Amino acid sequence: MSQKTLEAIVFSKHDNTLKILDQLLLPYNTHYITIESIDDAFNAIKSMQVRGAPAIAIVGAFAITVDIWRNLSNSKRTIADLMERIDYLETSRPTAVNLSNALNDIKHLLRNRYEINDVVDATTFEAVKEYSVGLHEGDLSNNYTLGDNGVKYITETLKKQSFKGPFSIVTVCNTGSLATAGHGTALGIIRSVHSQLKKGKGENDFWFEHAYPLETRPYNQGARLTAYELAYEKIPFTLICDNMVTSLISSLNKNRSIKDSSAPVKFIIVGADRVVKNGDSANKIGTFQLAAIANYFNSSVFSEESQKISFIVAAPTTTIDYKSASGDNIVIEERPSRELTTLEGPLLDKDGNVGKKKVVGIAPPGIQVWNPAFDVTPHELIDAIVTEKYPVYQKNDGEFLL
Ligand code: MRU
Repeated sequence: MSQKTLEAIVFSKHDNTLKILDQLLLPYNTHYITIESIDDAFNAIKSMQVRGAPAIAIVGAFAITVDIWRNLSNSKRTIADLMERIDYLETSRPTAVNLSNALNDIKHLLRNRYEINDVVDATTFEAVKEYSVGLHEGDLSNNYTLGDNGVKYITETLKKQSFKGPFSIVTVCNTGSLATAGHGTALGIIRSVHSQLKKGKGENDFWFEHAYPLETRPYNQGARLTAYELAYEKIPFTLICDNMVTSLISSLNKNRSIKDSSAPVKFIIVGADRVVKNGDSANKIGTFQLAAIANYFNSSVFSEESQKISFIVAAPTTTIDYKSASGDNIVIEERPSRELTTLEGPLLDKDGNVGKKKVVGIAPPGIQVWNPAFDVTPHELIDAIVTEKYPVYQKNDGEFLL
């Protein structure tokens, strides 16, 4: 195994080069690939060498910067040509709004330049570079603030419920450093909670004990990436399949320990690819059913306040789509059927040595498959939307106002 890292995106301000960690090779191999053009970025985003809503937006913006830089000697390249390439880049993954938000901002900059000069020049380059660097740096600092806001919300919630003792958190997909500029969103809150809500630290008589990342079929971002990040950070966790959540919660509520922890699940924290104005949130397929599960455990069947589970969406404001009133018209990306009917990964020998990558079949060839990458959780099932702003968004008369 090569040197482990959590740095998904490396841009050199000095020589304007961009490298991304190839997430298709994780967790077994650390390998960076160079992105030299908008086409390179399109392919890397589409094939999911880089994924996660904030990360693809940052890579998209940096790829435009690099593409302009490498073509500056072409004095005939027009802003209109560049805009066309940017529109093409936007089609790489349609659901995550961060990419289109960033590309729209860049197009706005380009339109302003167009008033002065219709050719892509050094001033255009400087403007796009400044925007991209700001997006990258802003995402990192927002994620730390978002993490702190998550800790505050969790602390207030547990205090209101007079909860005492250890608690656990369930999360889905990968929303960590690898999906962002660093720290992460939902996984960022888990990182912040792990460092701030420790047993015996501060005046609280509750503390974070365990995380349960879901495998996240069919692409397994939870098993491959979130488990890699949690292990890297030494945050206690146990990997489970997507269909084990109800069983997990129910067992822990009955004080039956799972492996070495019996801390009840108090929070399900997920990321988002697009949060619309009424709070409906698109995220990795399977997120909606997690919200429904939390709702079941919060229903009148179970009366104990201390066993209530809060369902939290964690996303920076760059993931908010202020143009859409509800989640009804969010375009859900459909991925190829082979992602469901096959498994891809390196062969491991009995000692855990990593061999060549292979594809194995797990379903009859040629069958009909439905493979949506995301679903939309209705706002009614969401308790809080945590962003870098405080207070966190909560429902007022059953409605979010974003
Ligand atoms: O298909 P992916 O891996 O790009 O899906 C990622 C997610 O659904 C994340 O939860 C979301 O992008 C937020 S990442 C901070």
